[in-house]
Amino acid sequence: MFAPCSISFLWTNLTRRKQIRAMDLHAKYPALSDLKARAKRRIPHFVFEYLDSGTGTEATTRRNREKLDEVLFMPSILHGPQTPDLGVKLFEKDFPLPFGIAPVGLSGLMWPNAEYLLAEAAAKAGIPYCLSTVASQTPEHVAPVLGEHGWFQLYPPKDPGIRRDMLRRVKDAGFSAVAMTVDVPVASRRERQTRSGLTHPPRMTPRILAQIARRPNWAWNLWRNGTPRMRLLDSYMQDNRSLPPTEHIGYLLRTSPDYSYVRAVREEWDGLFFIKGVLDPEQAKTLEAEGVDGLWVSNHAGRQFDGSRSTIEMLPAIRAASNLPIIFDSGIEGGLDILRALALGADFVMMGRAWHYALAALGRDGPAHLLEMLTRDLVANLGQIGVERFADLPTRLVSKPA
Ligand code: LAC
Repeated sequence: MFAPCSISFLWTNLTRRKQIRAMDLHAKYPALSDLKARAKRRIPHFVFEYLDSGTGTEATTRRNREKLDEVLFMPSILHGPQTPDLGVKLFEKDFPLPFGIAPVGLSGLMWPNAEYLLAEAAAKAGIPYCLSTVASQTPEHVAPVLGEHGWFQLYPPKDPGIRRDMLRRVKDAGFSAVAMTVDVPVASRRERQTRSGLTHPPRMTPRILAQIARRPNWAWNLWRNGTPRMRLLDSYMQDNRSLPPTEHIGYLLRTSPDYSYVRAVREEWDGLFFIKGVLDPEQAKTLEAEGVDGLWVSNHAGRQFDGSRSTIEMLPAIRAASNLPIIFDSGIEGGLDILRALALGADFVMMGRAWHYALAALGRDGPAHLLEMLTRDLVANLGQIGVERFADLPTRLVSKPA
């Protein structure tokens, strides 16, 4: 009887340790800003700048934040106990939470094996993870752990043969949706990234080496795991090292798509098909007529164009223009922001940077901690607003962006 007893003792101990660790994390890092601050201390300057920056003076990045703050609710009192329901239905599928993990290029720069860890966290929580065309791991690599929770973000390849091959690989790997990013018609300047010395892919200049030397843990990880590369693109290119420093990494193979390109993908891909980067309500109508399955309202979190409206400002008009499900991103920083987007017509909310701050700050514990933080945030704010279901959020709205 000795062995089972010690096993159960060990198990209880391990579970308890896990619980204590989770409690510690909540005490130390109660908000996304804490994860961001720790991430900044743990990754080299150029990596943080790559993840955190927008383009231009970052007016659009700030505007995303400011306009979210203009969405206000009437707090509710005397409503008695309530039981919030955090689940949503999207494309006939039930999700336990209203948010997922947005695509980010070269996640492996922030933390080794990042895509795999995010896929694992998403599958465990039952939420979608959208893998980027310019990820550091391939669809096939993350597919076994991701299961049915995979979406794939497509930077449209110029060559239709490569496009068809990518779509086939993604299908074979079990991804259910393709989100084609269309808000990168040309490369953006991303001055902060250039200023930091970053090149795509990173080149080991003395300046970059000096930044890396200040982050020995990150450097050790990089040394053990190798420099992250865009492995999906690698399979279509002999050499992707010759890109000019300010070029958008998606330009390796991509084209500026038009509506005929949308039609081609629609014909070649029989899974769910979203267009990512929608801000114009008129185009939302056109895309609905073209037969896409969902609109992904995004301004690339201010990384592409510094003179646009925020996504939350455009959301109500896009909601009014189309009956398609709406996925929303750009500047979401917590549960309250998620509720704001849901109240103004989004069906689902995605975050990219947040998960990467979490990974860079806490490594493999990061995604689970962020997930728990966002869940607590949703529950706390729903309780204040006094609704149990997201569908009732609009009844408590008192202001939206002018
Ligand atoms: C970016 C690309 C990868 O925003 O979408 O950096």
